[in-house]
Amino acid sequence: MKIGIDKIGFFTSNLYVDMAKLAVARNVDPNKYLIGIGQTKMAVIPPTQDVVTLAANAANRILTVADKEQIDMVLLATESGIDNSKSAAAYVANLLGLNEKIRVVELKQACYGATAALQLARTYIAVHPTSKILVIGADIARYGLNTPGEPTQGGGAVAMLVTKDPAILAIEDESSYLTRDIMDFWRPLGHYEALVDGKYSSDVYLDFFNTVFTDYKSKTGLKTVDFSSLLFHLPYTKLGLKALRLAVSDLDKRIITKLNEEFENSRIYSKKVGNLYTGSLYLSLLSVLENSQDLLPGQRLGLFSYGSGAEGEFYSGILQSKFKQQLIGHKELLKNRKEVTVAEYEKIYKATVTSQTNIQLDYQNDPATFIFSGIDNNKRQYLHR
Ligand code: CAA
Repeated sequence: MKIGIDKIGFFTSNLYVDMAKLAVARNVDPNKYLIGIGQTKMAVIPPTQDVVTLAANAANRILTVADKEQIDMVLLATESGIDNSKSAAAYVANLLGLNEKIRVVELKQACYGATAALQLARTYIAVHPTSKILVIGADIARYGLNTPGEPTQGGGAVAMLVTKDPAILAIEDESSYLTRDIMDFWRPLGHYEALVDGKYSSDVYLDFFNTVFTDYKSKTGLKTVDFSSLLFHLPYTKLGLKALRLAVSDLDKRIITKLNEEFENSRIYSKKVGNLYTGSLYLSLLSVLENSQDLLPGQRLGLFSYGSGAEGEFYSGILQSKFKQQLIGHKELLKNRKEVTVAEYEKIYKATVTSQTNIQLDYQNDPATFIFSGIDNNKRQYLHR
């Protein structure tokens, strides 16, 4: 039975900051951010969006009334959750008007979480083929103003409907994964910004990629040339490029050119949004599907997921016959965003809601369908409009 991604949608806020202008404000050569880091714009997430609303807004873009009636599980991966007990998935299921006879869970293993959710959904459907599972990766990446991590912030959510006989990507059975207990990036309880050993985290990412990709090829007998595109978790897009270079180092020029072209297609959206943490790999997938002119049904895509702490996985999927017709398009969403100045971005960054027990947010300027409107007596309030 084929199982995989039947629908995929993305959402981010309507605000961004220009990376060249941020570089100037930080006394850095703009090419460091544009080329060295590989980012041109960065999503600025207002206080009126959190992982619940980002997730609900992403899912709402792809789900029909019939989908909403049929979904029997929501798996929401995040590392910027809003409660230590209640899952963000419970809020999202309610906001989307899903059936009450469903399971909802929040998963956490840094940026790897959505891949865990996808693989768990796939194995569940193998036993329950009529099940439809909503898998979401939603996050807001925060390192702090004026920190080395600042140009690698961002935020948003990717929602995927996982079913049998999927219209977009059938996930193949084999995969290779690796876990090591290390401290490359973490966020202790009570911290609103991640702690990170930046260079170490990038080195570990590349080491994990090399290890799981090599293991995957030896397990399956597949070679790098068997992939029409290699997709990566993109905390900043230059890191994916470094991983790609490792993968293609011994190939002939024609294949390198082809994989490079598809890599460029896969990083178009991330370059304009920044790090999505859990959703990042799936934004690369969406970007290559919506921007490549060459990908065809039947072709194999390779996907590398990495979550600090650390866990990595390489797996693959086969493009399905109607994948192009199933895509909803996200160029307009990104084009219609509003630029904010560096000063405005800093003000918005500092306004993020932390521990207030009662707060009312001014949400008039946020055009999203789902809004975080404040906190009443320690209970988060959401609006659907
Ligand atoms: N023109 C072109 N390139 C330039 C340049 C210029 N004028 N100036 C500098 N550069 C290049 C540098 O040569 C360097 O390139 P290489 O990596 O190829 O050597 C690149 O720009 C970055 O420069 P630095 O290494 O000096 O950058 P930095 O020390 O300020 O920090 C960083 C970079 C470590 C990525 C930092 O932004 C960071 O800590 N980010 C957060 C951590 C992160 O994203 N880790 C990724 C792996 S962890 C993970 O994947 C999970 C997750 O999502 C967080």
